[in-house]
Amino acid sequence: MKKHVLLGVVLASGAAWAAEAPKTQAPNVQDGPPPWAWGYTTPAPPGPPTEFTPQPPAAPLKADDPKHTLPGSKFSFSRGEANNRYAPADWFPEDHPAMPPIVSHGRENANPTIYACALCHMPNGHGRPENAAVNALPYDYILRQLEDFKAGHRRSSDPRKTNTSVMESFTRAMTEDEMKQAAAYFAAIPATPWIKVVESATVPKTRTAGGVFFALEGKEAGTEPLGARIIEMPLNNDDFEKWRNPHSGFVAYVPQGSVAKGKALVTTGGGKTTACTVCHGADLRGLGPVPRLANRSPSYVARQLYDMQHGNRIGAWMPLMAPVIEKLTPDDVLNISAYLASLEP
Ligand code: HEC
Ligand code: HEC
Repeated sequence: MKKHVLLGVVLASGAAWAAEAPKTQAPNVQDGPPPWAWGYTTPAPPGPPTEFTPQPPAAPLKADDPKHTLPGSKFSFSRGEANNRYAPADWFPEDHPAMPPIVSHGRENANPTIYACALCHMPNGHGRPENAAVNALPYDYILRQLEDFKAGHRRSSDPRKTNTSVMESFTRAMTEDEMKQAAAYFAAIPATPWIKVVESATVPKTRTAGGVFFALEGKEAGTEPLGARIIEMPLNNDDFEKWRNPHSGFVAYVPQGSVAKGKALVTTGGGKTTACTVCHGADLRGLGPVPRLANRSPSYVARQLYDMQHGNRIGAWMPLMAPVIEKLTPDDVLNISAYLASLEP
């Protein structure tokens, strides 16, 4: 109860000053977006985010494609069916409530077209490193994000990241009802463990595709120094790339000592910021309309903090985060992201 009162005060003061501080550009952070958080190995080129034009499906449906099944699933699907943009495979329907049509099918004839939310975020909303976990987020928060995307208030700082523009384009065509149905659906699904954090000096060698790292296999497999990066990758490449297995999670390699450094900042503010627990909840599982951060993708969290610092995430409630992120260095962002990902959801 006490916490909600405190949050109310914080939110009220934030809202009062929202009008004067729409941008959150931090003067002390000059370097470009960390390529690891965007799933790249090279720095971002300059330029505005790429606009979305619908592409032909990566894996076109073919009637004679071989069928595949997953452990524990009663169903089998071809690769084309598993990746159908307007009806992706629902391997485990018993895992989640009945999907509203916008989540299971999108709306193909909308302008711009809308893919099924379940394609990228999965039917259980767990999401993947290149998008976002959307399950167990507050209903009001989800609605606000959809409105923010629609207003162009959530852009990616790396212009190569086209799927953030894709996300924006869906919201331009979604009806208010579709937004409410999707928000109610994902808000109702509890968070369960999805990301495993490993502190290490080395990391498996990877390749990147579509803004995601994949461990090299066979003769190419090996390790390399991790350095000051977080490298997040699917536990199983085929489960990710071919089958969109919603039971197959991710592992994030983080620098040694980063979790403890992140914990100090998150729980005390470390003298340079407000403890995140004040607004995101003592267990970082969310508080009222403020989203959960525990066990979220560290790549996603780092992208968001960077986007906020650089005026590319400027939604209605961003003024609450502006003073929080002002003094965070790239190392702080890395350490915070590592710690948050290591928490029980
Ligand atoms: C093509 C893949 C794709 C599809 C399909 C998709 N999204 Fe997204 N979504 C994304 C990406 C990418 C992001 C932002 C990631 C970033 O910028 O780092 C995102 C972010 C979000 C967020 C913000 C989450 C947060 O924690 O703030 C919400 C909410 C969301 N999507 C809802 C939806 C809904 C509802 C649908 C269905 C209408 C949908 N998405 C369909 C790719 C997708
Ligand atoms: C004064 C309250 C407050 C504090 C303190 C705070 N946050 Fe937030 N944070 C918010 C609010 C409110 C939002 C949602 C903004 C919105 O609705 O767009 C948010 C959103 C976020 C998001 C985006 C989540 C998503 O799903 O996209 C991240 C990441 C985040 N905060 C990290 C942090 C970290 C790390 C700290 C501590 C260093 C912190 N926050 C401290 C209020 C706060």
